[in-house]
Amino acid sequence: MFVKDRNFKIFIHESQIQNRIAELGKQICTDYADKNPLFIVILNGAFIFAADLIRHIDIDSEITFVKYSSYEGMESTGVVDELIGLDADIRERHIIIVEDIVDSGMTMREMLDDLKKYSPASLEVVTLLQKEKSIAIGQKFQYTAFQIGDEFVIGYGLDYDQKGRNFKDIYIVENE
Ligand code: IMP
Ligand code: MG
Repeated sequence: MFVKDRNFKIFIHESQIQNRIAELGKQICTDYADKNPLFIVILNGAFIFAADLIRHIDIDSEITFVKYSSYEGMESTGVVDELIGLDADIRERHIIIVEDIVDSGMTMREMLDDLKKYSPASLEVVTLLQKEKSIAIGQKFQYTAFQIGDEFVIGYGLDYDQKGRNFKDIYIVENE
């Protein structure tokens, strides 16, 4: 699959993704029964993951969306922008952050620090992908669908300069 100026090959199939999301959904329902969790989805990348995950949640829950961006092209810019769009009162709420991918872990660390200031009842993360880099520095999340290496991936919401979000499977960049 050629996207912009790079070749990508299939990495995680749609069926694997869907099976794993069903498992995570079930787990979350068990863990959060009667807690009315609030899912906070980090746009843009997590929109497809969140849409699929939320349909496996059959307990009382709510969902809202925020935006945060630190990425252009294939390299993290190292600068985390401000959090925008938080419209729900999260004090004393059970919060589950929904993220597409944790790479260096910087965005997630910022997000957790920002949200802690509002004194939520609890604060956990569900991420579709976690890269080696952040695993190596000891970052751990309650729910991770797949742990992967540090290669660049696209599809299923993840983009390469805004391309590839629409792919049903996850693709990995091919070395030239
Ligand atoms: P971090 O702050 O380095 O953890 O970067 C997190 C953000 O960078 C994610 O929310 C993604 O939007 C983006 N990102 C990191 N790795 C990839 C990738 O392999 N493909 C597409 N986007 C990525
Ligand atoms: Mg993202």
